[in-house]
Amino acid sequence: MPLYRPPRIAASEITPRDVYLSRRHFLGTAAAGLALAGTGSAFAAPLKAAPSAYKVDDKPTSKQDVTTYNNFYEFGTGKSDPARYSGDFKPRPWTVEIGGMVAKPTTIDMETILKEIPMEERVYRMRCVEAWSMVIPWIGFPLSALLDRVEPLGSAKYVAFETVIRPKEMPGQSGFFQPLDWPYVEGLRLDEARHPLTILATGLYGETLPNQNGAPLRLVVPWKYGFKGIKSIVKITLTDKEPPTTWNKMASQEYGFYANVNPAVDHPRWSQATERRIGEANGLFGGARLNTLPFNGYADDVAGLYAGMDLKKFY
Ligand code: MTE
Repeated sequence: MPLYRPPRIAASEITPRDVYLSRRHFLGTAAAGLALAGTGSAFAAPLKAAPSAYKVDDKPTSKQDVTTYNNFYEFGTGKSDPARYSGDFKPRPWTVEIGGMVAKPTTIDMETILKEIPMEERVYRMRCVEAWSMVIPWIGFPLSALLDRVEPLGSAKYVAFETVIRPKEMPGQSGFFQPLDWPYVEGLRLDEARHPLTILATGLYGETLPNQNGAPLRLVVPWKYGFKGIKSIVKITLTDKEPPTTWNKMASQEYGFYANVNPAVDHPRWSQATERRIGEANGLFGGARLNTLPFNGYADDVAGLYAGMDLKKFY
């Protein structure tokens, strides 16, 4: 028995009319219902993006795995819950409030972001703190492009992020069991936020971001553990103090503010030295076991951000 109601929104409410009509045609000829069951990716519209220099040689994880195996506690704590229970979520209309220590605070809507900021495809290695990994072809843009628009003040040192609160659309926020404090919050140091590898994603696999992957706008920081990648962002605040972060508030001895991928610093309850690449060459234990690389393989680009810091202390 599912804990939550299955999605029951009509495709016509969240899909452009032509896409909806062609899908109806498709569904009329294929096995209706089944094709739509669960994944919001079935609703995703094509998204234009230029290729970029940032890509890795690793084979991308299948779209099926990327869109059906992840964490998004607003929709439940199970790995398949986000895909199964995010169908009621409405990623449009959507605005993001950007303020705090900036010269030009603003509230910007998604259509403006998509129209005015050029999108790129970035194929990134992603490493979850639970020791599994994926390779995801994101579409997005450097977070710095948005930060530049609001002109951070010299006193700003950190960037704080917040996810939307919508219990009516996010069953994990309305159920009897509330696993986290809402809103989900995250943060970066301003220099990390401005690093060219740090992007806000609006899509994956050439399509608009599916609900379960953080529609319509989520953070992607490929050298940090996956929990830093806050989803469905509605608020970005520049500040001079290290912002609270959801997992650090939950268990500070297990999850630090930095959360840089580091095979030399184990999680208190498990090793971080290796990772299971989802969907790859399934061996005896259901996935290829790879050695985890410092900064998830992005050390040449980002290690300099932490020069002189004790990374065992600032984990
Ligand atoms: N963002 C919100 N708002 N709520 C969440 O529960 N989970 C995080 C992160 N962002 C989470 C979130 C965790 S633990 C991971 S591993 C990634 O999202 C996984 O999602 P992805 O595979 O779509 O990147």
